[in-house]
Amino acid sequence: MTKLLDQGAVKAARAWCAEAPVEVFDQLPSSNDRVAELAAEGAPEGTLVIAGEQTAGRGRHGRSWASPKGGLYFSFLLRPDEAMLRRLPPTLVGGLAVCQALDVFTPEGTKAQLKWPNDVLLDGRKVAGILGEMTRGDDGYRLVLGLGVNLGQVEFPDELSETATSVAALGEAPEPSAFLSAFFESFASLYRSVQRGGGALILAQAAARMPSLGRPIKLHLANSTVTGIFSGLSATGGLVLESEDGTRRDVHLAGEVEAVRPR
Ligand code: BTN
Repeated sequence: MTKLLDQGAVKAARAWCAEAPVEVFDQLPSSNDRVAELAAEGAPEGTLVIAGEQTAGRGRHGRSWASPKGGLYFSFLLRPDEAMLRRLPPTLVGGLAVCQALDVFTPEGTKAQLKWPNDVLLDGRKVAGILGEMTRGDDGYRLVLGLGVNLGQVEFPDELSETATSVAALGEAPEPSAFLSAFFESFASLYRSVQRGGGALILAQAAARMPSLGRPIKLHLANSTVTGIFSGLSATGGLVLESEDGTRRDVHLAGEVEAVRPR
């Protein structure tokens, strides 16, 4: 964990938001919870919390997120305004930034991919996940983006052994601070670009990393499963699902994609 405490982590955060505080812990229940606490106390955009391991890591859909030593767990605060909330979801931007950072540290020819909306895959297995949690206070919207990245883990719990991977499984894992630097360099540039209205270009970059695009999928929603062709991304990052009868439905940041073999 001392590696996380080096100047690299602090520098990485500063590149994104110069004045934002950075907290580093060997162990935390959940870095998302800590950032939410700091946000409620008025912490500025960019506030970053990094944990060496988590005892109550949370994933999407109320799942837990296994967070042993060897992985990288971090959360940071965004304070989007209404206009920004109508643009691309920051979770999608975060997923693309993780892909770009992974490309720096994985063997040549390995391209990190996205499973809509923002699971990050290497060789078809999940290497990183993103949890966005938003609340609204007197001070406006507080969006906590939490990222779990499997950097150095070489073993996974039985239930994940077929579906999860890590950077270490493909080669050498980077120092956490080096990964953070690469991530925030990408995220800062992508997020600023969305703020300036450049969402379409970011959307195209994200789409190019989605292997299920244009293919038949099953989309598992909260209470049902729908099938169709994943025909594209909407301007706000939603999944456009085309049914057999040609009707199109825009699903916005809900659900879980499963690839199915074409008949
Ligand atoms: C997913 O289900 O894919 C999202 C996983 C997000 C996990 C990260 S780890 C850092 C932050 N703290 C948490 O409790 N969860 C997120």
